[in-house]
Amino acid sequence: MSKQRVLTGITTSGTPHLGNYVGAIRPAIEVSKSPELESFYFMADYHALIKCQDAERVEQSRKEIAATWLALGLNTDNAVFYRQSDIPEIPELNWLLTCMAAKGLMNRAHAYKAAVAANEESGEDPDYGVTMGLYNYPVLMAADILMFNANKVPVGKDQIQHIEMARDIAARFNHHYGDHFQMPEAVIDDKGSILQGLDGRKMSKSYNNTIPLFLTEKQLKKHINKIKTNLLEPGEAKDPDTSTVFQIWEAFASAEQTAEMRAKFEAGIAWGEAKRELFELVNGQLGEAREKYFDLMERPADIEDILQQGAVKARAESAPFIEKLRQAVGLRKFS
Ligand code: TRP
Repeated sequence: MSKQRVLTGITTSGTPHLGNYVGAIRPAIEVSKSPELESFYFMADYHALIKCQDAERVEQSRKEIAATWLALGLNTDNAVFYRQSDIPEIPELNWLLTCMAAKGLMNRAHAYKAAVAANEESGEDPDYGVTMGLYNYPVLMAADILMFNANKVPVGKDQIQHIEMARDIAARFNHHYGDHFQMPEAVIDDKGSILQGLDGRKMSKSYNNTIPLFLTEKQLKKHINKIKTNLLEPGEAKDPDTSTVFQIWEAFASAEQTAEMRAKFEAGIAWGEAKRELFELVNGQLGEAREKYFDLMERPADIEDILQQGAVKARAESAPFIEKLRQAVGLRKFS
């Protein structure tokens, strides 16, 4: 049996934060070390253009995300790490799939429907601000996945529908042109991997409640001090299960350290002290990667080299595969 292939994309429109690290980056880097799995990780920078039209932000975000993954120890010998926009076969496949994707299917995409609903709510034209990029988002994502015939696609819950659409489009293509694509499956992170942000809601750029992953020590301390707590005094027992401080602790600590902190909460640890310990823990775990990160950010040409090597590996697959697909749909040479 051939190896299982894991593939996931990271939209390059923001700065990586602790929630991204715990929910997506850390588990993906673990997978990249496993010789039993083939992993494909890429920066979805074409997707980034859909939600972010600030060119400098897109450029900076790609650099930050690449440096983050590399600094945290992504094994690029084992994993294929590349930028979507370095693989011209992806937009080519995007078109072949566009011609097989039902418009009615795209009408049902959550992100598009949410945009239309928001317009209707505010009395705008339903299509106000909706680009074809947003509308076609699921087809491009299907192209990302099907280009490399990935079996397993780790994503957040909000992306499940997109994987289902990829299967739908793949099945239609296979039915029409022969068996070219395997059916991808979503792999959903378990609930323990969703981190709370400064205000207690899910840590997310859209809530503006994140703790960026690589900060100076001073900034990290400042962010941790901003985590919302209640007014309980030192000595008063605190509920670990409703505390963001404790939840972040748990995401970084061993089982033993977690049990110790739970006992301290019950014994009434002061919020200031709990936050100081949280800072020590997180800072200790990210310190080494942070050095590497800041170093890499100073050497963008080295990041570029690594990504170019990734693109060569990826295109060794995508180039012959797109050729086969061109044949299948009738785009053939005459001689
Ligand atoms: N849409 C995904 C997200 O926002 C990112 C993404 C793009 C992706 N292409 C992909 C994820 C292919 C998995 C597979 O999270």
